[in-house]
Amino acid sequence: METRRIGIIMNGVTGRMGTNQHLVRSILAIVKQGGIKVGDDLDNPADEVFFDASGTLQRAKFVEMAAKARKAIYCEKPTAVSTAEALRLYDLCRKAGVKNGVVQDKLWLPGFRKLRQLIEQDFFGRILSVRGEFGYWVFTGHVADQPAQRPSWNYRAEDGGGIMIDMFCHWRYVLDNVFAPVKRLVAWGNTDLPERIGEDGKPYKCTADDSAYAIFLLEGGITAQFNSSWCVRVRRDDLLTVQVDGEKGSAVAGLRKCWVQGQSVTPKPVWNPDIPQPINFYEGWTEMPDATTYDNAFKIQWEKFLRHVALDEPFPWTLREGAKGVQLAELGMESWKQGKWVDVPEL
Ligand SMILES: NC(=O)c1ccc[n+]([C@@H]2O[C@H](COP(=O)([O-])OP(=O)(O)OC[C@H]3O[C@@H](n4cnc5c(N)ncnc54)[C@H](O)[C@@H]3O)[C@@H](O)[C@H]2O)c1
Repeated sequence: METRRIGIIMNGVTGRMGTNQHLVRSILAIVKQGGIKVGDDLDNPADEVFFDASGTLQRAKFVEMAAKARKAIYCEKPTAVSTAEALRLYDLCRKAGVKNGVVQDKLWLPGFRKLRQLIEQDFFGRILSVRGEFGYWVFTGHVADQPAQRPSWNYRAEDGGGIMIDMFCHWRYVLDNVFAPVKRLVAWGNTDLPERIGEDGKPYKCTADDSAYAIFLLEGGITAQFNSSWCVRVRRDDLLTVQVDGEKGSAVAGLRKCWVQGQSVTPKPVWNPDIPQPINFYEGWTEMPDATTYDNAFKIQWEKFLRHVALDEPFPWTLREGAKGVQLAELGMESWKQGKWVDVPEL
């Protein structure tokens, strides 16, 4: 059987995301497993795909270069910090006629796949609300043995940082694809910690939001509320938990696990602070079994993109979809600065 080689120019893979998720756990893992079996025999030694996981503000010039060179382009989110720029990059790819895609990894996390399974099985009945709690304590680096576990540019607006631009991109594709399209939002952000220590060991001023709070109204009337923070200590099941409450049942998903509680086993609490709580609320939930073996979420999407390149299989997660994430973040900033609800127009 012939092998078709796809050479990938990987940019920014000296960084955290590029090294761990994209190079080691996706591409090297795909190479190690012997590539992707496509059942088709092709032979093309050219480097066809350009991948970018550099900083957000560096993205545009690399996408421009790659489109000009007619590469298929796959890149990390956010694709830009403004909707206009994100759309421009999509347009550039479209006009150049190159295949393109943006990372939307959370869609393939086991926790979200289990939520989708529950929705398909109509476990919830009518979904009423979704509440997402994302975050953990990112050390400031002021204590020598506790350096920050994220790059410093994340905390500088002038370098493309900020938790709203980082996380609302995720919340957009998660809400749109798992629940229903986002129609309106109100958001608030804050810089909780004003100073951190950079990679050079020197203090720098934090100019970007490191906590963000938002209510999203979805088509069909679901209310979704997401807290995102790098300044929060974790006392919950996972770094991201999403609780879905429906008329017939509820579920709480972490990154991998998911717990459910149906109507018939829902406890009936009575408010009485004068006695110790008689109900152990954790006992009323059942953990869903794994329905399959869940591969790394980034790797699954990489495989889909490579099949799109090699076989023309559909790949709906284009730079246009990426622009929708940037749009939600930009509107979140607008809502925060103006202190008002904003509509999410069709892109
Ligand atoms: N999908 C996700 O869940 C997720 C999570 C975190 C970060 N990200 C995104 O991934 C991207 C990278 O984030 P990170 O946390 O790995 O940051 P990072 O700072 O660790 O990595 C960025 C890399 O790009 C390199 N770089 C910077 N300028 C460059 C240039 N001009 N040419 C070539 N390389 C250059 C840097 O040297 C660094 O190695 C960002 O866009 C970020 O938003 C995505």
